[in-house]
Amino acid sequence: MPDLRIEGYVIVSADGMLANADRVMPGQLKFEGDKKFFTAALDRADLIVHGRHSHEGQPNSPRRTRIILTRRVGAIAPDPSNPKATLWNPAGAAFEAACDFAKVHSGTVAVIGGPDVFGMFMDRYHTFWLSQAPHVRLPGGEPCFPGVPERSPQEILAAHGLKAGDPQILDPAHEVSVTPWRRPG
Ligand SMILES: NC(=O)c1ccc[n+]([C@@H]2O[C@H](COP(=O)([O-])OP(=O)(O)OC[C@H]3O[C@@H](n4cnc5c(N)ncnc54)[C@H](OP(=O)(O)O)[C@@H]3O)[C@@H](O)[C@H]2O)c1
Repeated sequence: MPDLRIEGYVIVSADGMLANADRVMPGQLKFEGDKKFFTAALDRADLIVHGRHSHEGQPNSPRRTRIILTRRVGAIAPDPSNPKATLWNPAGAAFEAACDFAKVHSGTVAVIGGPDVFGMFMDRYHTFWLSQAPHVRLPGGEPCFPGVPERSPQEILAAHGLKAGDPQILDPAHEVSVTPWRRPG
């Protein structure tokens, strides 16, 4: 069993959306301070995990070991287009098996979306870093977690046993902050 610390990262609008109605993350949700925070976290992580449409697309991305969720494979396969990526279908193999294939047996895992991928790890996060843009609204957008907007992202994190720590301001002009939601103990 790998010794992994699983962390989640998302920035959401005031109405709990991570993307607009076209399932695209709009410029309105992009803030330099949040980008710096996110980039530094990914640079420290030993493994990045995301769905096929949530690649972070950063200059350091080619250096990062990653697992990409897709139903295009039955279980686990190398990514023919990226030697540092493993393709994983959770219907066919456990996460631990995908980590083993990726040769990651310890360290920090950064889960970066989309919604179904966040939902899959909800009971396993050590810390979920919830960035919020309180002046952005994305009506009809893509909810950050399964269960939003019926419940808020905060209610969902709390329902999975996570507790909010002190928020940190990432962009004072737009009042963008990040709150760590940590699992006690
Ligand atoms: N605001 C933020 O912080 C933030 C964070 C993350 C993403 N985003 C944005 O939100 C949008 C997310 O797109 P999305 O909803 O399409 O999510 P996604 O999870 O990135 O991509 C969905 C695809 O991932 C694969 N996948 C997801 N769950 C799977 C499962 N349980 N088993 C197997 N494969 C699975 C499938 O790929 P196949 O089709 O290959 O089977 C599915 O079509 C993007 O625009 C992204 O930029 C924003």
